[in-house]
Amino acid sequence: MADRGVAGALNAERIAEGVLPAVRPQLRRVTVLEQVGSTNTELARLPSAEQHAHALLAEAQSAGRGRGARHWHSPPGGNIYLSLGWRFRALGPDRAALPLVVAVAVSEALAAAGLQGAGIKWPNDILVDARKLAGILVESQGRGAAGVSIIAGVGINVRMNRAGGDAAIGQPWTDLESCLPASRRPVDRNRLAAALLDRLLVAFERFEHAGFSGFRARYEALDLLAGRALSLEDGEREVCGVGGGIDETGRLRLVLPDGGTRAFHAGEVRLHSVAA
Ligand code: BTN
Repeated sequence: MADRGVAGALNAERIAEGVLPAVRPQLRRVTVLEQVGSTNTELARLPSAEQHAHALLAEAQSAGRGRGARHWHSPPGGNIYLSLGWRFRALGPDRAALPLVVAVAVSEALAAAGLQGAGIKWPNDILVDARKLAGILVESQGRGAAGVSIIAGVGINVRMNRAGGDAAIGQPWTDLESCLPASRRPVDRNRLAAALLDRLLVAFERFEHAGFSGFRARYEALDLLAGRALSLEDGEREVCGVGGGIDETGRLRLVLPDGGTRAFHAGEVRLHSVAA
């Protein structure tokens, strides 16, 4: 357990108590560790029955993982590194949209903390002014008689040391406290983690029953790619076009130079800068 005496330190009891009473029964356990390799990996190591509805947070990660086998810079003391295990009894054909659902939940929790102007770069990067604020790594734990298990990992830069960040992150980035008005600082990370869990737990229940249809409009309100010139690298080649929104299963629509449209369920997006 992380030291409860340290001002501002993550605290499992405070996080659990901060979760809305209506949602709390769905949360089985909150664990806060001082340092792990990766919270996703740590949670995945537990027996599957102990992963479900278990939120595992750490003050630091020595081997934080991002999408596409990238490293997630995870220094101690000021950020959120959170993994939530969940077992769905069943998932529909739009199950690939789950990372988008998590991105909507994270964005809405950040907005409730006072953040304005954040949006989602498909599939699930949270950006402010083209700078990365938060990332999401949803990993499947497999399917069994009891259902489909996943671990949703969320990393939020809350209070990042400028000095170490640039070289370690390797892309434009920001942190929550730099984006908030003074009246909203310092950020209480325990409250932020609780607000995040509120939204994730509600979102998972809703996704299981109603699929992506309950999130599509909310995603569209946060979509940073619609109408933007971009290229998508899908592992084989790079396709250029203009963002045409998402379809009903969360695939990215790209309007091609010949006027046709293609939908992609995976890929790395690069935004083209707008000429002045
Ligand atoms: C990305 O943007 O590439 C995804 C980053 C996900 C980082 C979070 S931090 C908590 C969890 N544990 C990890 O090792 N990764 C995720």
